[in-house]
Amino acid sequence: MPALTNTTTLGHARILGVGSYRPERIVPNSEVVEAIDSSDEWIQQRSGIRQRRFAGPDETVQMMSVAAARQALDHAGIEASQLDCVIVATVSHLLQTPAVAPMVAAELGADHPAAFDLSAACAGFCHGLALASDQVRAGSSRHVLVIGVERLSDITDPTDRGTAFIFADGAGAVVVGPSDEPGIGPVVWGSDGERKDLIRQREDWRDVVGTPELPGSGRMPTLTMEGNAVFRWASFEMARTASRALEVAGLTPSDLDVFVPHQANMRITDAMARAMRLPDTVRIARDIAEQGNTSAASVPLALDRMIREGQARTGDTALLIGFGAGLSYAAQVVVVP
Ligand code: UT7
Repeated sequence: MPALTNTTTLGHARILGVGSYRPERIVPNSEVVEAIDSSDEWIQQRSGIRQRRFAGPDETVQMMSVAAARQALDHAGIEASQLDCVIVATVSHLLQTPAVAPMVAAELGADHPAAFDLSAACAGFCHGLALASDQVRAGSSRHVLVIGVERLSDITDPTDRGTAFIFADGAGAVVVGPSDEPGIGPVVWGSDGERKDLIRQREDWRDVVGTPELPGSGRMPTLTMEGNAVFRWASFEMARTASRALEVAGLTPSDLDVFVPHQANMRITDAMARAMRLPDTVRIARDIAEQGNTSAASVPLALDRMIREGQARTGDTALLIGFGAGLSYAAQVVVVP
């Protein structure tokens, strides 16, 4: 039998460009409190959220993805036709199949790249970034578009006290491509399926539609979360995961310029920074105050804001971490483009 040939050797990858899309409609806390018997003060104190954005009817998952992707391609100086792969991380593309990624690729005018969706909830973007980095390094793709996008307002119950004030909508994107120097560190990732019930869709589609024996609910299945248990897991275990990502990249906290954790809750971000003993010089993403928790979109949205506001500068080292339903998590250090 002839031996397979594989001539690729490992190269380096980096983020070449970042982009975002924030829905037009700004929703202050005052608009969500009545349905959950809450207050602006409680929400700000417990989560740091002042407002969030909810997508309108035309701001679909595909539309927001394309808008964020166009910015990222522009920033990278790459044409859509140069993309070899498009990865869309999301849990709120409400069509079981086909995935949204091929439609995004087609709308961008890409030349039939590999395109698929990735379901790892709030850790989805960092999973996609790890896959993109490995593809570029191994040579199976030269340029990869990674998008994190959510329309969580579609799958959030506005009367659920534990989730209605947290979840929001938006999209962020990066283009990953070849580099002369290492630009994306090794990923530290994992899952804990035994804790699957901590954040989940309340019921599956069969429960909605019903069976010959049982009538269906007929309602959109929404998200449910055991907030306090997730809070403790995120604040402590995820701080260790983030520290490990620094370590495997050969860095210490004092080498770090920027920290971009999943924008789950401002208090989680603060607890992680304390547990990791990040020096005061590290600039920390706080996009959640204005944007809410956008699951897969939150890390690229927060990174994009920091770049645009000059808090993250070209060549800075930034530690990214996503964590959430699954449970699943992924963290890596990147060089800011
Ligand atoms: O993105 C995926 C990962 N997700 C996360 O990382 C989210 C993690 N969890 C959280 O961010 C927090 O758990 C929440 C912000 C969701 C909740 O904050 P908490 O400090 O964990 O609140 P709690 O559930 O422990 O409730 C504390 C109190 C309770 O009252 P008592 O028993 O102390 O009198 C609740 O009844 O706050 C009450 N409460 C509320 N009050 C006003 C619970 N929800 C609300 C509400 N408004 N919406």
